[in-house]
Amino acid sequence: MLPPILQNLRIPVVASPMFIVSGPELVIAQCKAGIVGSFPALNAREKDGEPPLLEAWLTRINEELDRHNQSNPDHPAAPFAVNQIVHRSNARLERDIEICHRYKVPIWITSLGARPEVNAAAHDCGGIALHDIINNTFAKKAIEKGADGLIAVAAGAGGHAGPQSPFALVQEIREWFDGPLLLSGAIATGRAVLAAQAMGADLAYIGSPFIATTEANAPGDYKQMIVESGAMDIVTSSLFTGVSGNYLAPSIRAAGLNPDDLEHADVSTMNFGGASSKPKAWSQIWGSGQGIGAVRAVEPAADRIDRLAAEYAEAKAEIARL
Ligand SMILES: Cc1cc2nc3c(=O)[nH]c(=O)nc-3n(C[C@H](O)[C@H](O)[C@H](O)COP(=O)(O)O)c2cc1C
Repeated sequence: MLPPILQNLRIPVVASPMFIVSGPELVIAQCKAGIVGSFPALNAREKDGEPPLLEAWLTRINEELDRHNQSNPDHPAAPFAVNQIVHRSNARLERDIEICHRYKVPIWITSLGARPEVNAAAHDCGGIALHDIINNTFAKKAIEKGADGLIAVAAGAGGHAGPQSPFALVQEIREWFDGPLLLSGAIATGRAVLAAQAMGADLAYIGSPFIATTEANAPGDYKQMIVESGAMDIVTSSLFTGVSGNYLAPSIRAAGLNPDDLEHADVSTMNFGGASSKPKAWSQIWGSGQGIGAVRAVEPAADRIDRLAAEYAEAKAEIARL
């Protein structure tokens, strides 16, 4: 049984948070179209001496979604989520937790570290905490530390993907966990959303297809590269952040590197403090999962979500006839 906040979505989809790419425009469009929208708290970066941009973003999202709900009582917006990078190099974590607690953020997504105090803050303001993991051991730890649900990040996902097949990962988690389970990794069609549910997940967690939307905070060339690329253009490398991640090979070539001959980097080089020794990651070396062959055009997020919903309904009807 899903917690009430995750019930009644138009389709069982949570849009995943993406560094730089996800901001208020995209989140508001996703929520209005009926799926959970999300952004990393770290994307809200104010200049020195200015008030926290995160507060301005949360105010704007709350106000726009409230306005939408008043004018569309029959189609209320889905709730939104904020992602916290729970890594020792994230010097803003405590401040961002305080802000999200004060603004009563309904869904908290934690990555790169499970910490009981973050889950406690989410619960204290009436929210739920979902933690992303790449294997069963991390999944157990996350639940022991108080997360309400899990995001299984399988092979082929954009960003810091895991190496495991979604079949293996979901099956091992479902042996002991019957709470909310989201699955990510190259899900880009309504049929794939249904497949995630057939495998045992409750919801699909989708990132890369939303890079090629008008509301995404990404350069036009990045959006176009998503449209023009497919699974064969995705390269897995630890070079750019110290942790294995998936990137678009043409963006690596454009930065003057050979995507077929990249060095490995050590996890100790990972840094979310803003003074990264690898400034090119994400801003010049563009992340993406393997599912983007399904993305044919840059379009408004609402159109992409309409198509996902239509494909999902069609796939369901087709499977029922088997
Ligand atoms: C460009 C990009 C940036 C990402 N940044 C983050 C991030 O800041 N925090 C996070 O938890 N996940 C991040 N992710 C991973 C996504 O949340 C999610 O796991 C992934 O996009 C799902 O796979 P898909 O892209 O194949 O749909 C990022 C993914 C991409 C493609």
